[in-house]
Amino acid sequence: MQSIVTPSEPPDRLRLEGIEVRFGGLVALENVSLQVPAGSVVGVMGPNGAGKTTLFNVVCGFLRPHAGTLTLDGRPVRPAPHRLVRHGVARTLQGLGLFGGLTVLENVAAGASVSHRASFVTGLLGLPYGARTQLAARSSAATLLDEFGIGEYAQALPPALPYAVAKKVALARALISDPTLLLLDEPAGGLDSSDIEELGTLIRQLPSRGDGSRSVMLVEHNVDLIMSVCDHIVVLDFGKVIAAGTPDEIRADPLVAAAYLGGKEAA
Ligand SMILES: Nc1ncnc2c1ncn2[C@@H]1O[C@H](COP(=O)(O)OP(=O)(O)O)[C@@H](O)[C@H]1O
Ligand SMILES: [Mg+2]
Repeated sequence: MQSIVTPSEPPDRLRLEGIEVRFGGLVALENVSLQVPAGSVVGVMGPNGAGKTTLFNVVCGFLRPHAGTLTLDGRPVRPAPHRLVRHGVARTLQGLGLFGGLTVLENVAAGASVSHRASFVTGLLGLPYGARTQLAARSSAATLLDEFGIGEYAQALPPALPYAVAKKVALARALISDPTLLLLDEPAGGLDSSDIEELGTLIRQLPSRGDGSRSVMLVEHNVDLIMSVCDHIVVLDFGKVIAAGTPDEIRADPLVAAAYLGGKEAA
C-alpha cells in the first residue's frame, strides 16, 4: 500500500519557541527558541547576566514567560516545579540544594520518592508497598552512588562533603527518578579543572544510560565544559540567541568571541 504520509522525525524532547521574559523594564529573554532532541546534550552558554538561569527557570516552571511556547515531546506544557517529575523532567540547581540533615544515601533516595511511579504505586497499594518502594529507592540510590564512585560517602552528611562529591550527590538525586530530560544549571560552578573534566565525562554518558533517549539541557558559563559535552550549543547574550550550532561552529563564531570578550571587559 502506498503511504501518503511522509515519515516524520520524532518530536523534540523539549522545544522552546519565542520565549520572552521581562523584569520590569529589563528584557531578560527576547524571542528565544531552541530544541533539545531525544538522546542529545544541548548547552546554553553566555556571559554572566545573559539570561541562562532565567531560561532554566522558564523550563522548570519557576518563571512564566510573557510570550512564547514550550513543548515536551510535541505536547504544549505549562511547566510547574511540582509537576516536573510527572513529565519525566529532573533538574539540579545552581549550587547544591541538598538536605543538610539527611545522609547522602537519604538525599539521593529522596529524589525517587517524588517520582510519579513511586507515589502512584504507593497510593494504589498502601503503606507496606510504600515501605518496599522506599527500600527499592535506597537500593537504587546505593547503586548510583557506587556508579559515581562515591559509595563510601553514603552515610555522610552533606555539610561534611568535599564540594565535588556534593555536586555528584545532587546529580545522583536528579537521576534517580530516571528522567528523560535532565536540566543542569551551572554544574561546573565551584569545581576545579580536574573535577570539571570528570563531570564532563559523566554528563557525556547520561544519554546512553537507560534506553538511550535521555536528553540533557545544560546551562553553563564554563566554555570548556560546554564545548566538550554538547552535541548542540545555543549562545545567549543580553537575552538574545546570538549563535547556535555544533561546538566547532560556535568556537569559530566571531559574535560569540566578541560576547565573551565584552563580558570579561565588563567584569
Ligand atoms: N528576579 C529578577 N528580577 C530582576 N532582574 C532579574 C531577575 N533575575 C534575573 N534578572 C536579570 O536578568 C538578566 C539575566 O539574568 P540571569 O538569567 O540570572 O543571567 P545568567 O544566568 O546568564 O547569569 C540579568 O540582567 C539579571 O540581572
Ligand atoms: Mg545563572
